[in-house]
Amino acid sequence: MKRLLAAISLTAAVAAVSTISTSKVRAHGDVTPQAVDTSGLPALGENWLEENPWRDPDGKDWRRAIEVGASGYNQNCARCHGLGAVSGGLAPDLRMLSADIDGDEWYLERFIQGYTQGGITKMPAFGELLSQEAAWAIRTYVETRADPDSMEEYLGSLQDIRKKLVSMAESGKPAGDLGSEIEPLKTQMQEISGSIETASGAPKADSVAANAVALLDGSPQSIANAAEVLTVGLSAAK
Ligand code: HEC
Repeated sequence: MKRLLAAISLTAAVAAVSTISTSKVRAHGDVTPQAVDTSGLPALGENWLEENPWRDPDGKDWRRAIEVGASGYNQNCARCHGLGAVSGGLAPDLRMLSADIDGDEWYLERFIQGYTQGGITKMPAFGELLSQEAAWAIRTYVETRADPDSMEEYLGSLQDIRKKLVSMAESGKPAGDLGSEIEPLKTQMQEISGSIETASGAPKADSVAANAVALLDGSPQSIANAAEVLTVGLSAAK
């Protein structure tokens, strides 16, 4: 019995060690895919579509596709392609891939097949691992990121807005009492959000300005949340 226990704990130790070493190995091409929760999006069927079905910003699934895609992207793609789709140089910047049928064809090719060079997996093949819905949601997320050059024009104004929101949040005054100060900031951010472009050519950017506006709904934490979104978004935009 003692032996058995010893054997079990040895097995456990070996398993622990090999988990550590595989996770190191996995830091390269061989990933454990993270399931993507695609609830709320319509099922797309078995056959791969040729074009992103959720490209239209007026379509009913656009917003949800971006949400699902953000999570799917950050879990499965960000460690190589960069947080928030801002590439650190390890792998191509996916914000630049053209949001049209040609870009989609190339996107799917890489998504499904991955990329192997000289027997080394540089990018895992996701075709068998993640669903078609996850693929297009991630596509929608990356193609709707703001063009960094376009963002740059507005960084100064957005920083100013961020500062004002931070001091409002710190003042401790309830959001409900600050309406007249918040409204002009919202209007300004709406204008900015309408002017920010995508690098992919997708019709509408889901920018940090748009996200901050959406958060300013008058609820108690809304000002702090909007300030936080701007802080994170603007530091990533640099
Ligand atoms: C282990 C690192 C790694 C992970 C994880 C990864 N990729 Fe890649 N990806 C790469 C590399 C490296 C390339 C460049 C391959 C080449 O030279 O064509 C690439 C290329 C691509 C391309 C072609 C881009 C272009 O401009 O040519 C697309 C599209 C792509 N990846 C999508 C994704 C998506 C979507 C995910 C997540 C579901 C993902 N990748 C996860 C490493 C990775």
